[in-house]
Amino acid sequence: MIVDIVTIFPAMVEAALAEGVVGRARESGLVDIRVRDLRAFTDDRHRTVDDMPFGGGPGMVLKPEPLFRAVEAIAIERGAPSAVILTTPQGKRFTHAEALRFSRLDRVVVLCGRYEGVDERVAATLVTDEVSIGDYVLTGGELPALVVVDAAVRLVPGVVGDEASIEHDSFVRGLLDHPQYTRPAVCRGLPVPDVLLSGHHAEIERWRRGQRVRRTLERRPDLLAAADLSADERRELNEWIKEYGDEGH
Ligand code: ADE
Repeated sequence: MIVDIVTIFPAMVEAALAEGVVGRARESGLVDIRVRDLRAFTDDRHRTVDDMPFGGGPGMVLKPEPLFRAVEAIAIERGAPSAVILTTPQGKRFTHAEALRFSRLDRVVVLCGRYEGVDERVAATLVTDEVSIGDYVLTGGELPALVVVDAAVRLVPGVVGDEASIEHDSFVRGLLDHPQYTRPAVCRGLPVPDVLLSGHHAEIERWRRGQRVRRTLERRPDLLAAADLSADERRELNEWIKEYGDEGH
């Protein structure tokens, strides 16, 4: 997977991509990520990337020309991108399904939005996917771009060592994960649930399944409607609902 991220804060984006799982994936060549400074694609002395909005109003808008030039330069260097993503609060909500779709593309360009927005001609003609990471407004699109790239890169085969851990991800089947504990068995007087120390694998799995269903019911009932539940999980869910009611969900 080849990823190019266009930003006015390249040092910030580069720093985040140098660490951890993504940093290792880059070093091992599983992904090729480059961070591009939008100012490098300006042509004036002040390297201007933004301007006032036509029609008036507060804030500044990212100028179209540097973004067009950036994507053209990247396409010449790397080949035509399979997707050009723009991070913006106006975008479609980012989900696990979208992360999986992006992870399967060969070449992705991510444009980090900024200020009051990005000239609409860029969104209309260059961008294939406008993406929002949630219903809140950040100061810029850099953190959302890092979220999108991180979520997609970890789904590239070989990036996460234990593939089974991806299958257990909270949003793969629409259930939140069960609680986890590690040593010591008692910390600050707080014990680990006995069942986890019992060595009974079937019992442990039953307990975890119950926890996953219960947590999802309590915290994210919206996920359950679309969840891909096993027969055991469905039975568990119905028992919880019968015992505690659905509390209006
Ligand atoms: N830029 C500012 N806020 C954003 C958000 N929530 N998602 C994507 N891009 C953004």
